[in-house]
Amino acid sequence: MTSIQLGDKTFVPYLPEEKILEAVKHVATRVNDDMKGKNPLFLVVLNGAFMFAADLVRGINTECEVSFVKLASYSGTSSSGKVKELVGMNEKLEGRNIVVVEDIVDSGNTIEHILEDLKTKNPASVVVAAFLFKPDVFKKDFKIQYIGMEIPNDFIVGYGLDYNGLGRNLRDIYVIKK
Ligand code: IMP
Ligand code: MG
Repeated sequence: MTSIQLGDKTFVPYLPEEKILEAVKHVATRVNDDMKGKNPLFLVVLNGAFMFAADLVRGINTECEVSFVKLASYSGTSSSGKVKELVGMNEKLEGRNIVVVEDIVDSGNTIEHILEDLKTKNPASVVVAAFLFKPDVFKKDFKIQYIGMEIPNDFIVGYGLDYNGLGRNLRDIYVIKK
């Protein structure tokens, strides 16, 4: 892995594909144990979670469904703190066991908004599977049940995560060069 340039920023190698897939496998194993026979509905938060979700659900060995929602809070490299409206939630969520699939939980604003929205739909249960988690930034009082990996408060790209729309296609994860 070598450094890459995306727009005006340089990014250096951080997490290779093998390590990523290993972490995803661990998450899948835990979800399989907890969700066996519960027909979970994976609610994938677009755009960033598409790649994690693809690997995660291929590791699921119990009957399940997959659907997608969209909502964004980021522009550039720092959280705006603002969240947009949630769109695409067309499934009947009442009585379902929902696994919200996120690429990364940073401030937690995005996931908090989604969890609040979901509560009004009367699901049987809601858990969150986030590939990455920044514990130093997260200040909320709810739990993220499944975390692929904890990372420091640095801006990263790759494996679905972007910098101004770029870098989502990268197999490995890179961190911004300071
Ligand atoms: P939060 O609302 O602050 O938790 O931010 C969550 C969303 O911000 C994620 O779903 C990502 O789309 C985006 N995000 C947070 N940290 C990063 C990062 O380091 N790189 C790219 N996107 C990020
Ligand atoms: Mg996201």
